Amino acid sequence: MSEDLIAKALAARGQAYAPYSQYQVGAAVRMADGRVGTGSNIENISFGASVCAERVALWTLIHAQGGRWTEMAVATEDGGTPCGECLAVMAEFVSDPEAVVWMVAEDGNRTKFTFKDLMPHAFQSRAPFTQGRTNL
Ligand code: THU
Repeated sequence: MSEDLIAKALAARGQAYAPYSQYQVGAAVRMADGRVGTGSNIENISFGASVCAERVALWTLIHAQGGRWTEMAVATEDGGTPCGECLAVMAEFVSDPEAVVWMVAEDGNRTKFTFKDLMPHAFQSRAPFTQGRTNL
């Protein structure tokens, strides 16, 4: 089941636009309803305008149909973990703290984490949104 996601993350890495860092990242995300989407990092000459692969993948799915994610795979050169900003975005739309995140390195090495492993104390507002597309 996870193999399809890992293969899609590796393929998405090939679509990265990373001329400044030369660090290509691919991400694949599975939603609770079974949809799968992909993304890659897309950099900008104004470096702060660059966006990570995880957010491209997740936001594309959220834009299309809302929902919550259950599993994610991130492919990089060295099996790097998602950055803090991506974890905050992932926290917004995660289905469950036990949702699985695979880190996949170029040499084929895989590391499996739960979302909670990566972000054990995610910020939650005292007045969380109870309306919205993720709750449809
Ligand atoms: N990057 C991602 O796409 N995902 C991450 O989780 C970490 C970093 C990108 C941002 C930038 O384009 C490049 O990797 C180097 O930091």
